[in-house]
This record gives sequence, structure tokens and C-alpha cells, in this order.
Amino acid sequence: GGAGDPNILVLPEHSRTLGKPVATHPYGQPSQYEANLQRRESPGLTRVGAASVSFTPLQGLFGIITPSGLHFERHHQGWHDIDPSKHRFMINGLVKNPKVYTMDDLMRMPSVSRMHFIECGANTAMEWGNVAVPSVQYSHGMLSCSEFTGVPLSVLLDDCGIDKRRAKVVLAEGADGSSMTRTISLERALDDVIVAWAMNGEMLRPEHGYPLRLVVPGVQGVSWVKWLRRIEVGDQPYATKDEALHYIDALPDGTFRQYTSIQECKSVITTPSAGQRLQGTGYYNITGLAWSGRGKVKRVDVSVDGGRNWRTARLETPLLSKCLTRFNIDWDWDGTPAVLQSRAIDETGYVQPKINELRAVRGTRSIYHNNAIQSWQVAQSGEVSNVQVY
Ligand code: MTE
Repeated sequence: GGAGDPNILVLPEHSRTLGKPVATHPYGQPSQYEANLQRRESPGLTRVGAASVSFTPLQGLFGIITPSGLHFERHHQGWHDIDPSKHRFMINGLVKNPKVYTMDDLMRMPSVSRMHFIECGANTAMEWGNVAVPSVQYSHGMLSCSEFTGVPLSVLLDDCGIDKRRAKVVLAEGADGSSMTRTISLERALDDVIVAWAMNGEMLRPEHGYPLRLVVPGVQGVSWVKWLRRIEVGDQPYATKDEALHYIDALPDGTFRQYTSIQECKSVITTPSAGQRLQGTGYYNITGLAWSGRGKVKRVDVSVDGGRNWRTARLETPLLSKCLTRFNIDWDWDGTPAVLQSRAIDETGYVQPKINELRAVRGTRSIYHNNAIQSWQVAQSGEVSNVQVY
């Protein structure tokens, strides 16, 4: 262009003046130009915000770590900012020495730091019957991934001495008004479960359970009990309200599946995704996230023609177990309508199903565990929208 770009030719103010001093924001905050990237509530989804969910804006994130301020929230009875000096954590039930721990007691113990995804079992729930939501934030945003730090539950159970002959399960209980209680098998409890106080290098945020939450890798979010106050060791599942009445899967024959904990292998393209618009033909990097509650993601295939042809995407490192994996693949858009899909395969060989395959087994009346392949339609105008392809 003859006149040249004023963004280059006119020396901007920030090149001519003194910038702001250090610690202007002692904690730090995003640029004012990124103010649109926020957790959002789905209008009309729930009646009160204290028993609701805010969704992570997956369309605006890079890599695999969710910034703590954008980590989705799901509360049954609101969140609290609990004084850690008054918080107590108890282990009781089938143990030789029932114990009460303070936060100081716990934080002296040998800790581990692990990166894991957390996905609410209800993620993608609205899409069982038909297309329902306008963007990946609402279709898949009950998903986040963080580094968690805490003491392995196995260390604490060892400290209390479990009754190895009788113990089969543990019950985790939260300190909020919802009395969130979930049964977890002893095998899992002794495997990779963490009693965590930190997320992404700092103490947990209040919304995420400060000062203590359970981290149950690969398992639906509801078992990641926040404001954790008690673990009881027992000999059979407790059938609490949050596992007997809620968080059960309605099947086509009228029966319900209970104790469906694992988040099966799933993936979604985050860019381009519904609500976005392509700016003309040519090169685009298709990018997205894949995960499996059973281990590592082995492969992700991407289709731009609604599942007729597939190409294998690049998986970015790190490639961790029960953690998000970022995938990328090149795409040259020729300007004709396209349907973008991703299909993940995990290390067990499990292949993410198509929506009609999932419905054939699970019906359309379910809420939880919808891990179907997601389709985004690109119109000739470049507009991207949510569609279902059978
Ligand atoms: N723990 C307590 N004590 N109370 C709750 O309401 N919600 C559960 C789980 N742990 C909940 C809880 C549900 S349904 C989910 S999906 C996750 O917390 C959400 O965790 P997050 O808010 O950190 O994303």
C-alpha cells in the first residue's frame, strides 16, 4: 500500500514514553485487550448461580494448561473462602488410627506435583439429543487441565493404617453445604489420587476448593471433592445422593448406570470452532485438545469432510497420562463448505465414537459421559457453527 502502514510509520506512544513501574499489579492480570476471554455461565441452564457451572473458554487457550482464573467452576451449593488455619481433614472408618490433620500437618508431608485434566461428567451433556449450544466454550468447557500439588492419599491412608482385610472403598466428603460425598474404590485411592492444596504453582483458588481438594485422575469431576474435610474407609459403596440419584446414566431400556467414573477418550477442535469465522481461503492451523481417563492419548485423526477421509494430527509434548494433549494439523481451505472433526485414540486402543454409535448404546436421555466426535461446519462465508453428522 502506497502510504505505508501507520502502525509502523508513526512512532507509537509506548515507544516514546516511560512505561508503568514493577508491581503496579502485585498479583498480575491479563491485558485489557484480552478482557473478552472469561469463564461464562450458560444463560438459562440453572436457576441459581450457587448451584451452577461456569465454562472455560477453550477457544482462546493455547497449549494444555488452563490459567487458574479461567478454570471452569461447578458448585452444588456455592463456594467459600475457608480459613486454612481452621480447616481440618479427618480420616476415619476402617483404619487402625483415625486421625485429624491440620493444613500445617499435611503440608509437612512428602508431596507430589502432577498435571491432569478435570472434566465434569456433564461436559457436552446438552448435545445428547441434538445440537444445543453455540460454541466450544459451552459444548466442552467443563474441562480444564492444571498442575496439582499435594500428598498422595496412599501416604495418608498408610499413616492411619487401613484395615487391609475389610477395606474396599473410601468415601470423600466436602465441607460445603452440599455435603458432596463420593465413593472411590480403594484400588484407585491407593493408586494416583492426591489430597491437593495447590494448583498451577499456588494455593488452590477458593472456587476450586481452597484449602484442600481431592484430585482423582481420569475420573469425572464430581469425585474431585472440594473443601475436602473427611475420608472414611469402608467395605462397600456408600450410595450417597451424589452417586445413587445424581451422576447416573439413563439408558434406552429405562435402567440407569451407576458408578460410571472414568472419562473415556475424547477430543475436540478448539480452533476453528463454532462462533469463529475464517478470514478467507488459504492456510489454517487446525488445533484442539484430546484426553483419556484411561491413560495417554495415542493418536488423533482429523477430518475436514465430515468423517469420510482422515489425516493424523501432530501431538505436541508433553504427552502425559490422564492429562490434556494438544494436537495440530495443517489445512488449506479452498473456500468450499467443510465439516471439521477430530477423533482420538488412547493407549488402550479405544477409539472415540461417533454420536450415532454412542446413541445406539446409550440412547438420548442421558446427561453424563458424552464423549462423541464433535463436528464443526465451515460455511462458504467462513462462518463456523455447531452441527451433528451421523
Ligand atoms: N466438591 C464439593 N465439595 N462441592 C461441589 O459442589 N462439585 C463437583 C466437584 N467437587 C463439588 C465438589 C463437581 S460436579 C465438579 S465437576 C468439580 O468439583 C468441579 O471442580 P471445579 O469447580 O474446580 O472445576
